[in-house]
Amino acid sequence: MMAMPGAFALLAGRTEGTCREPIGFALARMGGGEAEIITLGVLPLWRVSGIGQQLVAAIAAQASACGVEALLLEVAEDNAAALKLYQSNGFSSVGRRKNYYQTADSGRHDAIVMRRALVAD
Ligand SMILES: CC(C)(COP(=O)(O)OP(=O)(O)OC[C@H]1O[C@@H](n2cnc3c(N)ncnc32)[C@H](O)[C@@H]1OP(=O)(O)O)[C@@H](O)C(=O)NCCC(=O)NCCS
Repeated sequence: MMAMPGAFALLAGRTEGTCREPIGFALARMGGGEAEIITLGVLPLWRVSGIGQQLVAAIAAQASACGVEALLLEVAEDNAAALKLYQSNGFSSVGRRKNYYQTADSGRHDAIVMRRALVAD
């Protein structure tokens, strides 16, 4: 995916002694004046300590610097952690894709489409 035009990735890391290890990452793609957050994740041990928020802020900063006007993403309706992360960081729900995600037990979940304007950033 990194080979796609407009794609960029960010890595969150921590330093322990002389070692630096990754603890979170995000992948986004810019195009047509918007950027989509394709995926974002933090290692379980490091969750709820602000890493996700820092990754979102870094994506917004990089996209803004490239003239992007809005961030978009899709998130599963049952993903409470991700919904909270995005709501706390200025995203609003702008749509719903029915049965977008398949669950491990062959169930289905809707995707919530979220958007954040970057113009005022
Ligand atoms: C979603 C995810 C990236 C959040 O990362 P994180 O580093 O834990 O997020 P932060 O610590 O920056 O927290 C951001 C906000 O979400 C809240 N939050 C985080 N995890 C939460 C949880 N499990 N339940 C409720 N709220 C939660 C935090 O309290 C914080 O709220 P605040 O802004 O009011 O203080 C992480 O849980 C994850 O990697 N999940 C698995 C992958 C995934 O679902 N990615 C999203 C795909 S769309």
